[in-house]
Amino acid sequence: MKPIEEKTLIIIKPDALNRSLVGEIIHRFERKGLKLVGIKMVQLTDEILKEHYAHLADKPFFPRIAKFMKSWPVIVMVVEGLEAVESVRLITGDTLGRKADAGTIRGDFSMSVQANIVHASDSVENAEKEVKRFFKDDELFSWDRVGLEVIYAEDERE
Ligand code: TYD
Repeated sequence: MKPIEEKTLIIIKPDALNRSLVGEIIHRFERKGLKLVGIKMVQLTDEILKEHYAHLADKPFFPRIAKFMKSWPVIVMVVEGLEAVESVRLITGDTLGRKADAGTIRGDFSMSVQANIVHASDSVENAEKEVKRFFKDDELFSWDRVGLEVIYAEDERE
């Protein structure tokens, strides 16, 4: 069985902050059963955005998203759970908000490709790198959840 400590990085983007959706977004991940193990507000810089969006650095829209992402602060958070990376991507929905499935965060709150409310790590490998990029070890918390047995089956917790 896979670990229930799989971590993934979520960024609540400037559009969500300006639209007062921060609580709503955190709520969606929290009520799913994902465990919050780190959270803070940060100001992104060109340096960190070049690293974070390295796979898009050659795209014509890169300067546009970099400008957007650093125009206001963002919330970065780490959640943990069984297959958390995949689960968070499913809750997040497709990149293009206006075509994302209803019920997903982007499907419910976004009409845009740029202003699409959240970033979520897209693989376990990238999640490990992204968590390290934004959080020091002492900013992540390991805590025992009360009532884990109502979140997972016995064999899923082993
Ligand atoms: P990407 O990593 O492809 O998508 P996702 O966020 O779903 O993992 O793209 C990163 C961000 O870049 C995306 O959330 C919004 C922006 N973007 C654009 O502005 N235009 C585009 O055509 C694409 C593909 C992405």
